[in-house]
Amino acid sequence: MKMMSMKMSLLWAVVPVLIVGGCPSQNRQQGVGTSASTQQSLYVRLGGIESLRPLVDEWMLEVTSDKHIRDFFAQSDISKLKLRILEKICVLADGPCLYQGRGMYSVHAQIKLDDTHLQRFLVGLDAAMTRVSIEPAAAAELRERVRDVAAQIAVSSDS
Ligand code: HEM
Repeated sequence: MKMMSMKMSLLWAVVPVLIVGGCPSQNRQQGVGTSASTQQSLYVRLGGIESLRPLVDEWMLEVTSDKHIRDFFAQSDISKLKLRILEKICVLADGPCLYQGRGMYSVHAQIKLDDTHLQRFLVGLDAAMTRVSIEPAAAAELRERVRDVAAQIAVSSDS
């Protein structure tokens, strides 16, 4: 069993994230001439894929050991879940990745999540960002964007 989970972690460590061509969607629409328009993308400020991968590792470690929510993940293929989460946050941060997972509503609809669960998920993210030393302003921004995804989980269909 231990050997099996070791293999899964190794697989996760080498599995490539699909990086799409061209520029990362050069930030969200920002006003010309504002200081934000010349700022690097959140993806870059977070440290790119090399920094997001250990972040996702720590984050999933947090949520799968959190007694309030860990049972949700009992049947999950954690290696695959990490890859999907990595793609998702890469895209959320305006990075050049392709999210290949299902819609947020479809995935979570059967799970019956409440606000407490979503909060614990974010608490796990905060702990992980602290542990891998994400710069505070970038961390706050990523948290905000992940929180917005929670709203998609709550709506009645995927757009
Ligand atoms: C804003 C918060 C969240 C985000 C961004 C998020 C993101 C994701 C993503 C990208 C996937 C993979 C989709 C796929 O397999 O195609 C997923 C699956 C899943 N998520 Fe979430 N999620 C969030 C909140 C939560 C919470 C709060 C829980 C439970 C406490 C949860 C439990 C799960 C489970 C159990 C799966 C399915 C894993 C499997 O297929 O075995 N998620 N989530």
